Amino acid sequence: MSDSRSGKIAVVTGASSGIGAVYADRLAARGYDLVLVARRADRLQALASKLSAEHGRHVEVLGADLTNEADLARVEQLLATNPAVEVLINNAGLARLANFSEASYEDTQAQIALNIVALTRLTHAVLPAFKQRNEGVIVNVASVLGIHAWSASSVYSGTKGFVVNFTRGLQEELADTDIRVQLLLPASTATEIWDNSGIPLAALNQDSVMSTENLVDAALSGFDQGEKITWPSVADASLWDTYDAARAKLFAATQTGKPAPRYKLS
Ligand SMILES: NC(=O)c1ccc[n+]([C@@H]2O[C@H](COP(=O)([O-])OP(=O)(O)OC[C@H]3O[C@@H](n4cnc5c(N)ncnc54)[C@H](OP(=O)(O)O)[C@@H]3O)[C@@H](O)[C@H]2O)c1
Repeated sequence: MSDSRSGKIAVVTGASSGIGAVYADRLAARGYDLVLVARRADRLQALASKLSAEHGRHVEVLGADLTNEADLARVEQLLATNPAVEVLINNAGLARLANFSEASYEDTQAQIALNIVALTRLTHAVLPAFKQRNEGVIVNVASVLGIHAWSASSVYSGTKGFVVNFTRGLQEELADTDIRVQLLLPASTATEIWDNSGIPLAALNQDSVMSTENLVDAALSGFDQGEKITWPSVADASLWDTYDAARAKLFAATQTGKPAPRYKLS
């Protein structure tokens, strides 16, 4: 198939493996040209050649370390200035699963820099153009660990908790526009992130692990159904409604302006 430009571009961060690589494939199949972002440019190039051959789409590779200021600025520039950008998949992410006090601070900083700072800056870079055109799609890949933490996940969970609250606030901010922001919360998914995290994929209960293809196809199905928050592995969708209603009730209960009676202040 020859490569042609569709005039609409999806930018996928972390497209060199795992979930991002499948997003790239599915978005090319949906007719988007692509800009693929990650550090391993050789892998991106191989994927780009495959996708343009299979789908006939124009695929560009942008080798960038999103924790490096100059590289991040290059991606921001593209998002801010290319009017064909219609979709941003904020997928690049890093997990270092170890007790905080025992891990190097570099590992903590790297997770914050990629999972929080890069995602936030790329979102900030693309929004003015989206708002001007009153269109565009942002998918923020969080994690079920954004609402849950265990000892080895304190920093990772913290970064993904940021993505959850940041995205929900952004959804409120953009509620009166045609810009769509989807919050995606994958559970364990079969990618390289595990072996790189310190917990091998092979050590997980394999029944709890989803394939990348199922994860992305479910996420896109959720998007097509108009979901703002997508939990691909949760069968009973009412669980989220119950959880979120309890959260809203707790928040409302904080608005009293005085200490609760159980604190018995004199
Ligand atoms: N797999 C799971 O169980 C799971 C569960 C919940 C959420 N998630 C989230 O899903 C997203 C995708 O992860 P994945 O599971 O598909 O893992 P993955 O296969 O390890 O993919 C991570 C991607 O991020 C890129 N990346 C890492 N550091 C980067 C940096 N400094 N600059 C630019 N790109 C960088 C990697 O590419 P390079 O190494 O080439 O840069 C790779 O393409 C992440 O946000 C992750 O937190 C995954």
